[in-house]
Amino acid sequence: MTAPGPAHEEEVLGKAYDARLVRRMLPYVAPQARWIALSVTLMFVVIGAQLLQPYLIKLLFDVFIPRADRAGIAALALVYIAATTVELLARYGQLYSMELTGQNVILHLRDRLFRHLNALDSSFFDRHPVGRLMTRVTTDIESLADLFSSGVVSLLGDSVKLIAIVVILWWLNWRLACVTFAMTPFLFLLSVLLRGRIRRSYRDVRRRIARINAYLQESISGMLLVQLFRRGEVNRREFDAINGEHRDAELRSVVYESSFSAIIELVGNVAIALIVWYGGREMVRGVLTFGTLVAFLNYTSRFFGPIQDLSGFYAVLQAAMASLERIFALLDERPAITSNPLPAALPERARGRIDFQDVRFAYRDGEEVLHGIGVRVEPGEKIAIVGATGSGKTTLIKLLIRLYDPTSGAIRLDGRDIRTLPLPWLRRQVGVVQQDHFLFTGTIASNIAFGHPDLPRERIEVAARLVHADRFVRGLPKGYDEEVRERGNNLSVGQKQLLSFARALAYDPAVLVLDEATSSVDTETEILIQDALRLLLEGRTSIVIAHRLSTIVGADRILVFHHGRIVEEGTHRALLQARGIYHRLYQLQFGLETETSGPLPLAAPEIST
Ligand SMILES: Nc1ncnc2c1ncn2[C@@H]1O[C@H](COP(=O)(O)OP(=O)(O)OP(=O)(O)O)[C@@H](O)[C@H]1O
Ligand SMILES: [Mg+2]
Repeated sequence: MTAPGPAHEEEVLGKAYDARLVRRMLPYVAPQARWIALSVTLMFVVIGAQLLQPYLIKLLFDVFIPRADRAGIAALALVYIAATTVELLARYGQLYSMELTGQNVILHLRDRLFRHLNALDSSFFDRHPVGRLMTRVTTDIESLADLFSSGVVSLLGDSVKLIAIVVILWWLNWRLACVTFAMTPFLFLLSVLLRGRIRRSYRDVRRRIARINAYLQESISGMLLVQLFRRGEVNRREFDAINGEHRDAELRSVVYESSFSAIIELVGNVAIALIVWYGGREMVRGVLTFGTLVAFLNYTSRFFGPIQDLSGFYAVLQAAMASLERIFALLDERPAITSNPLPAALPERARGRIDFQDVRFAYRDGEEVLHGIGVRVEPGEKIAIVGATGSGKTTLIKLLIRLYDPTSGAIRLDGRDIRTLPLPWLRRQVGVVQQDHFLFTGTIASNIAFGHPDLPRERIEVAARLVHADRFVRGLPKGYDEEVRERGNNLSVGQKQLLSFARALAYDPAVLVLDEATSSVDTETEILIQDALRLLLEGRTSIVIAHRLSTIVGADRILVFHHGRIVEEGTHRALLQARGIYHRLYQLQFGLETETSGPLPLAAPEIST
C-alpha cells in the first residue's frame, strides 16, 4: 500500500513535446499522409470561406448600397450563400478526414500493442497488473486520438486563422485593430491560468472515478461474501463517502469550466464595446465607413475563439506525450521467453519422453521455489504429483510449457532441450488442463475447439461425448451453440471441468498435463469426471497434479513434492509401505474417509516435517 497507486502513474505528465517520441510515432502516421494533406487543404478552404463573409457585408454597406446597385446586391447575396455552403462542406470533409486519420493511427497502434501483449511471457504479467495494461490499450491510446481531433490540425488551423484575422484587421483600419489587440495579452494570460486549474480539477475527478471503479469492482466481485457477512451497511457508508468526494471534485471542475467560458465571453464583449465606442466616434468624425465598422465587429468576434483553443493545446499535447511515452515503454518490453525457428527434423508428434534435469526456479525477485527437480518420465507413463499446497507443483508445470524458464538445469522433451524448440510446436505437444477452468466468451463449441478454430463440429461432439460432457450440453437451450457468459459464470464447476477435458481431448497432445481442481463436485459428476479422466490420459504421457484418490492410485508412479523437492517416488503401494511423507499425507487427506461420513477433503493440507 506504500507504492503509488495505479491512478498515480497515469497522472505523470512531462514534456509537451518530445522529438524522440514523435519520431517513433511517424511510421504510424505516414500511411495517413494523403488524408492529412486533404484535411489541411480543406482547412484552408474553410478559413478562406469563413473570413470572406464579413468582408462581403462590408462591401454591401460601403459599395453596393451607396451605389444603389440592385443587381450587385443580389449577386452579393448569392456569393454569401456560396461562401457559407463551401464553408460547411469543406468543414465536413476536413473534420471527417482528420478523425479518420486519428482513428486509423490508433487502430494500428492498438493492434500492435495487442499483438505485443500476446507475445509477452508470464513473468511480465506477474509484474504488470491487468488494470494498468488495460489502460494502455484503451485510455492512453484514446488520448492520442485527441491529439489528432483537437490537436495538430486545429493548432495549424487556429494559428492560420488568427494570423489572417490580424492581417485583415490591420489592413481595414490599424488604429481600430490596436483596440482589439490590446485585449489579447489579457485573454491569453487568463486562459493559461484558468486552464491550469481546470486541468488539475479534471485530474482530481479522474482519480476519484478510479477509486469508485476500484471499490465497485471489489464489492461486486465479492458481493456473495458482502451479503453473507452482512457487510452491506459498512460498504454503503464507505461508498457514500467516495461517491460524495467525486461529486465535490466534479462540481469544482464545473465551476472552473463555466468561469472560464464566462470570462472569455466577457473579454470578447469588452473588446466589442471598446470598438463600438471608439469606432462609433471615428464614424461620426467621418474617418471610418459604416461597412468597415460592421466588418470589424464581426472579425473581432471571430478573433477570440482560436486564442481560447490555442491555450488548451498545450494540455492536449502534454497528455498525448505522456501516453506515447507509456505506450512505447510497453512496446519496448522484450519477452524473456522466445521461440526458436523450426529445426529440420522435428516430427509431427513427439514420442513424449520428458526429462527434468536438476531444475531450479525462482519467480522474479522471489525465493527459490524449486530446488533441483530431477526426474524422467517415459513415453506413455502416467505420473501423479502430490504434495502440500505451495510446494511447487503448478510451478513445475509452468516450466514444462515454458511460461517461465528454469533458473538453472534443463527440461528435455524426447531428448531435446525445450528452450531450443519452437514454442508453437512445444505447446502443440504438451496440452494443459489448468486448475481453474478458464472459459472464453463464445459458444460451448468454440470453447471445446479452442486450440483449433477449424475443428469440424463432428470432432467437437465426439470429444464432448467421450468425456461425458455431451449430456449436460444437450440439456442447454441452444446445445453446443449456447453462449458461454463471462468466464463461464453460467456453468457449474463440474460442467466446466468436463468442458476443459473435452477441449484437451480435441487438442489431442502427445503429453497431457493436468492440474486437478481442488473443488469438490457431487458424486454423480465425480464418477463422470473420473471416467473422463481415464479416457483422457489413455495412450499418452501424462503428468497429473492429483487430488483424487482414484487418479493417484491409478498412476504408474507417484512423485511426492515437499517444499520444492521430490522427496519420495514410487507406486501407491510401495509408498504406503515406506511409511514416509506420502503415508502421512494419505492418512491426512484420505484416511478420514473411514472415520467420518463427510466428503473427501480434496485439498492437500500443509504437513510439517
Ligand atoms: N506468479 C508467481 N509469482 C511469485 N511467486 C509465485 C507465483 N506463483 C506461485 N508462486 C509461489 O511459488 C510457490 C509454489 O507455488 P505453486 O503454485 O507451484 O504451488 P502448488 O504446489 O501448485 O500449490 P497448490 O496445491 O495450492 O496449487 C508458492 O510459494 C507460491 O507463493
Ligand atoms: Mg497448484
